[in-house]
Amino acid sequence: RPVIGVPRETAVGERRVALVPDIAKRLVGAGMDVVVESEAGLAASFEDEEYTAAGATVVPAAGEVYRRASVVIKVQRPQIDPATGRDEADLLREGQALIALLSPLTDPQLAGRLADMRVDAFSMDAIPRITRAQSMDTLSSQATVGGYKAVLIAAERLPKFFPLLTTAAGTIRPARGIVMGAGVAGLMAIGTAKRLGAVVEATDVRPVVKEQVQSLGGTFIEVEMTPEEKAAAETAGGYATEMSDDYKRRQAALIAERVKDADFIITTALIPGRPAPRLVTDEMVASMKPGSVIVDMAAEMGGNDEGTEAGKEVVRHGVTIIGITNLPATMPGSATQMYAKNLQTLIKHLVGDGTTATIDFDDEITKGATITHGGKVVHEATAKALGIEPPAAPAPAAAAPAQPSTDADATASAESKDA
Ligand code: NAI
Repeated sequence: RPVIGVPRETAVGERRVALVPDIAKRLVGAGMDVVVESEAGLAASFEDEEYTAAGATVVPAAGEVYRRASVVIKVQRPQIDPATGRDEADLLREGQALIALLSPLTDPQLAGRLADMRVDAFSMDAIPRITRAQSMDTLSSQATVGGYKAVLIAAERLPKFFPLLTTAAGTIRPARGIVMGAGVAGLMAIGTAKRLGAVVEATDVRPVVKEQVQSLGGTFIEVEMTPEEKAAAETAGGYATEMSDDYKRRQAALIAERVKDADFIITTALIPGRPAPRLVTDEMVASMKPGSVIVDMAAEMGGNDEGTEAGKEVVRHGVTIIGITNLPATMPGSATQMYAKNLQTLIKHLVGDGTTATIDFDDEITKGATITHGGKVVHEATAKALGIEPPAAPAPAAAAPAQPSTDADATASAESKDA
């Protein structure tokens, strides 16, 4: 019987956990054992008793979780536990599987180490963002939380109301906001700001998002594009591409005009694998009213705002610039619920209906998510980052992370990324 192990997260500020009781119940129902470290879910409001009631075994210490598990599931990649100084990776052992947000391109060394330890590692942030993988798409689920929370933080910091109010004490004009980058996080930010009553504009290099922005009640700040630029703005996978210097100049001029009137800005612009595009200059910040707020969600990748400092809140020209880096952890209940669902769907995807213990490494989703297998770094981009040749596609192996005896949940819903 496969044993799914859930340790408590040790990273500072991390309040999520890899599993919620409801999903634990499904895994148990699918013929797996689930072992959870005591208080692992507490910061996300899930109590030990709920896991026990779901059929999981709660054990007092992380060591026991790692000892008993055949598959360790986590949120953050293994790291030094600041409380004990112990390296979580040391608790893993040969033949075990690990599923977590491994950030293999940020920390390829860890992948190398896991390969050497012969741990099969799967990364939730490496799942391709294709339609078939939507219910496993952790980047999207966590960006949904992030986009929502970024707006709440802006609203909390702004010295004014968001909505238009007509009161006996006079009329309050609605706050004006700009969302830069209308992907998953950006669309959620637009919807959230609109629900709070703000007037919202949005910009993105992909012309196709115009309609999505408008359907949420936002106004699209449209950079005029040549047909060639339009065609080149989006990859086949739906991602943005690096635009020409001329486009960037036109975009910057337009943004500079709009920024002057903005009370708040949420920036989420990203091209995968590249530093965050610089969209807000110091000069633009200086043109804003004092008291305005910028929440820069791209802080970790260098920031869309020139003045952003990752993990910090700075004030420039009277404008508060917030470079918060782990927004999902500030709303751990929902973030965990979505993460656990993504994880369960991936586990089910890897082991199929449980009648065979083979993993199909030719499958696009599996191939994308597998970082190490059979003692090797098999993830191409990670191998490249380590300066090693990725091995040829591995043969299907019996080292499946789990082997459910029944169908876990055939109805993995494919919610829209843009919800
Ligand atoms: P996404 O890929 O769905 O959206 C990014 C959007 O930016 C795309 O629509 C893209 O077309 C647009 N874009 C790219 N370059 C642009 C440019 N030069 N000008 C205007 N738009 C441009 O990504 P997602 O999932 O929405 O994430 C957005 C960002 O938020 C990422 O950097 C991600 O790492 C970050 N994030 C941060 C969190 C936090 O806690 N701070 C939490 C979750 C996500």
